[in-house]
Amino acid sequence: TCADQPTIANSSLEPAGRPKSAQSRIFIKNGLIVNDDQSFHADIYIEDGIIKQVGTNLVIPGGARTIDARGKLVMPGGIDTHTHMQMPFMGTVAIDDFYSGTKAALAGGTTMIIDFVIPQKNESLLDAYEKWRGWADAKVCCDYGLHMAVTWWSPEVAKEMEILCADKGINSYKVFMAYKDSMMLEDPEIYSCFKKCKELKALPMVHAENGHLIDIKSKELLEKGITGPEGHAQCRPVEVEEEACTRAVTIADQANSPLYIVHVMSKPSANVVAKARREGKIVFGEPIAAGLGTDGTHQFNKCWRHAAAHVMGPPLRPDPSTPEYLMDLLANNDLQVTGTDNCTFNADQKALGKDNFTKIPNGVNGVEDRMSVIWEKGVYSGKMDPCRFVAVTSATAAKLFNIYPKKGRIAVGSDADIVIWNGEETRTISAKTHHQAVDFNIFEGMTVHGVPEYVITGGSIVMDEGQLKVTQGLGRFVPTPPNSQYVYGRIATREKAREPVKVDREAYTGPVVEVENAQ
Ligand code: URP
Ligand code: ZN
Ligand code: ZN
Ligand code: ZN
Repeated sequence: TCADQPTIANSSLEPAGRPKSAQSRIFIKNGLIVNDDQSFHADIYIEDGIIKQVGTNLVIPGGARTIDARGKLVMPGGIDTHTHMQMPFMGTVAIDDFYSGTKAALAGGTTMIIDFVIPQKNESLLDAYEKWRGWADAKVCCDYGLHMAVTWWSPEVAKEMEILCADKGINSYKVFMAYKDSMMLEDPEIYSCFKKCKELKALPMVHAENGHLIDIKSKELLEKGITGPEGHAQCRPVEVEEEACTRAVTIADQANSPLYIVHVMSKPSANVVAKARREGKIVFGEPIAAGLGTDGTHQFNKCWRHAAAHVMGPPLRPDPSTPEYLMDLLANNDLQVTGTDNCTFNADQKALGKDNFTKIPNGVNGVEDRMSVIWEKGVYSGKMDPCRFVAVTSATAAKLFNIYPKKGRIAVGSDADIVIWNGEETRTISAKTHHQAVDFNIFEGMTVHGVPEYVITGGSIVMDEGQLKVTQGLGRFVPTPPNSQYVYGRIATREKAREPVKVDREAYTGPVVEVENAQ
């Protein structure tokens, strides 16, 4: 066991409760409604999972549950753009499944996750999609969407992307520049994939790290006898992430596709995103809760378990000023949106790499604590206002993945996914009290301002005065249609403006040198 983490009573897997029927009508009064572009005092009336009225002096039908939100913020529920629930990975399966993972999400004020379908090399994308739907549909306590990972490339993959876009509600495709020999694509394949995304008006995403360098450098460290978790960060320094970010931005620009860089973990890669955007490239950067809330010094901790618990890729950076730097860029729209990359493994699973850091399953928690960590380090620190908080925790995600304003906004007609937030209240994060299945929390001991007092998902109150009551299978799959205007608004015109030039001229009629055995 790790001395810094509590021993856990296994209480987080109790059976789920049913929501009360009166919850189909909810009246939220006296709160401050916060959207990404404005905040205002108004009341909200919800019926059958939809926001029906927003305003003052509303006429409300009888039988509604009334919640007094005076002094509280009423915000769209969080959207976590990046999770891996029960993901089969590195010889094991992530311990938080679609039940415990979405339950934890709701406990923290997140009402939608977007998870990744990860096909094996040569596996049909459609088959993998059905597998993930099968796992998730039965278990999710909140709505969810799916991204598709493109882990191999062929004309059949391109065909399946067409079907996924047209019929299956997938508009985002992630390629890996790392994980050599399992998921990594080479540059020409990445170019083809980005081109296909552009044709389908889908959003390409990238895990940007140079997989060849990681492969070489991790072997060098192992040969030197560095087998512990500290080897993980040292085999892939910031330059390895920065180089891949630059390469991905270049490839996307040449394909005239947009680009979404997942888990931006370092200062130089955040700078790559910011610079690309200043140059007019259509690039979006996603820092994650882990990278904003803690740092990579823990990988050098004397306790093996503690160090291994912080292993994820790209690594948390040993430079302790990185989290604040990433938050500053997020606050100022150099970075746009936040996820968690929640991909959790218990101590015995991490121990698969006890003698070799390259075998430690990569991943950390975050889905439960993202909202509070960003409130604490972003809003409470004075870097961002509550509107910006909504932008980076839900609204921008909804725009990027083309489900706005159904999600990510408090407005008439939007889904009733709402968090009533007490920005002054504090709680201390601990694995002892969290709702995730995993036995470790990378934010252990951190006291954060910002506590969800009520969480409403699809019109059901699942956090009620701080009490969590979720229902397994209550969430639904949310299709993400292609051609988000937030992403694609400029692409077609750019394509025209960038048409290659052909010069009409007389044919050359002079002599041509003779070449023997030209190669
Ligand atoms: O360490 C990580 N990030 N695990 C999940 C897989 C990925 O690369 O997103
Ligand atoms: Zn420890
Ligand atoms: Zn990744
Ligand atoms: Zn991930």
